[in-house]
Amino acid sequence: MADKKAQLIIEGAAPVELPILTGTVGPEVIDVRSLTSTGRFTFDPGFMSTASCESQITYIDGDQGILLHRGYPIEQLAEQSDYLETCYLLLNGELPTAEEKAKFVSTVKNHTMVHEQLKTFFNGFRRDAHPMAVMCGVVGALSAFYHDSLDINNPQHREISAVRLVAKMPTLAAMVYKYSMGQPMMYPRNDLTYAENFLHMMFNTPCEIKPISPVLAKAMDKIFILHADHEQNASTSTVRLAGSSGANPFACIAAGIAALWGPAHGGANEAVLTMLDEIGDVSNIDTFIAKAKDKNDPFKLMGFGHRVYKNRDPRATVMKQTCDEVLKELGIKNDPQLELAMRLEEIALTDPYFIERSLYPNVDFYSGIILKAIGIPTSMFTVIFALARTVGWISHWKEMLSSPYKIGRPRQLYTGKPSRDVVKLEDRK
Ligand code: SDX
Repeated sequence: MADKKAQLIIEGAAPVELPILTGTVGPEVIDVRSLTSTGRFTFDPGFMSTASCESQITYIDGDQGILLHRGYPIEQLAEQSDYLETCYLLLNGELPTAEEKAKFVSTVKNHTMVHEQLKTFFNGFRRDAHPMAVMCGVVGALSAFYHDSLDINNPQHREISAVRLVAKMPTLAAMVYKYSMGQPMMYPRNDLTYAENFLHMMFNTPCEIKPISPVLAKAMDKIFILHADHEQNASTSTVRLAGSSGANPFACIAAGIAALWGPAHGGANEAVLTMLDEIGDVSNIDTFIAKAKDKNDPFKLMGFGHRVYKNRDPRATVMKQTCDEVLKELGIKNDPQLELAMRLEEIALTDPYFIERSLYPNVDFYSGIILKAIGIPTSMFTVIFALARTVGWISHWKEMLSSPYKIGRPRQLYTGKPSRDVVKLEDRK
């Protein structure tokens, strides 16, 4: 809705009027689409002050530390909902009725198996390959198995692809883990909940089927909810950009997985545990805080800071509570890494460097401690993030394709050489 205008005054040129658009909540945006008529572009590396699209899925208020999914606060969803309900909400815009939920859960359950031939795809990887490398490969490979639903202009195809991806990610993630362990892959079971099924496929073997702890399953489900979606972050923007070219949904999600892998993004949860191991002891914290502040040192405090949150990441607060619950359930007292993490948070949050820059713990700071306590190896942490974020990625993909869109094609500020002629090899000095 444009009810205000901005005026751009350019020396020696007529002023340019730009509409100001307002959303339901949050910052207004200046619509610069007509700027190309002036022969100029906006310049915003890293998209620090750019809204790339209009969306109704997730809202973040970084100053207040607010995260809403279709208007519902993340704290309420984490406490009162479950992951598949949250998936339904993100995909469809409303929380399901009991009947809608039962139908959705049943549909997802009936898509949790993957094509049997996909197993042979794993054999091309080394057993010690990083699980995220394998995930990029096998998820992209899904395009080779589902030719029946690749017409992105067909709403039914978009729907079935979304369900297939939500349903199959836990199966694929567990297969990646089993492959790395040299253990037989476990088939999904339809009598288990989504999180129970994932833990079953991860930790049970054909030799012994142990019951899944309801507390660990609930913690896993909550971790999935907390990672489900987060507006236009790097990996979601990657999925939108890939989707804008008309690429099929499986290829787009594989692109999102690749973008998530970076330690500045979803790879941070693995990097936090590596960092805690490197710090080792509370006595070394000051040394590492100094490294984090030293501009000549590339070291950053992993799990701290966020492009949008300049207050606490509300997911980190819920994650910390879950951490305490899981460790208590497991009878783990004084977990050294948790103690170290809490002390690190305490010290960092009293340090002017972190306070001035509003650097607080983000979603990745405590998640690794819970995942490790559940028995998930560090190398699988970002795979769990990708599993949970798939519903967010595919919801944004669906939203973009459900109304008119253009291929994403940014321009640049060119500072390279002006036009010049090629000099013959023999004449070059
Ligand atoms: C996720 O976008 C999303 O929504 C992402 C995510 C999601 O759900 O999709 O929330 C998930 O990716 C969480 C972030 C996980 N990454 C990390 O924990 C890695 C450590 N954090 C940093 O790399 C950094 O904070 C970012 C990448 C998260 C944000 O970087 P920005 O917004 O580009 O900010 P910046 O790097 O410009 O930092 C501003 C200042 C700089 O110092 P000055 O130049 O002003 O002196 O703060 C400093 C930075 O050097 N800084 C840090 C720091 N993070 C920022 N200094 C030390 N340690 C850090 N962690």
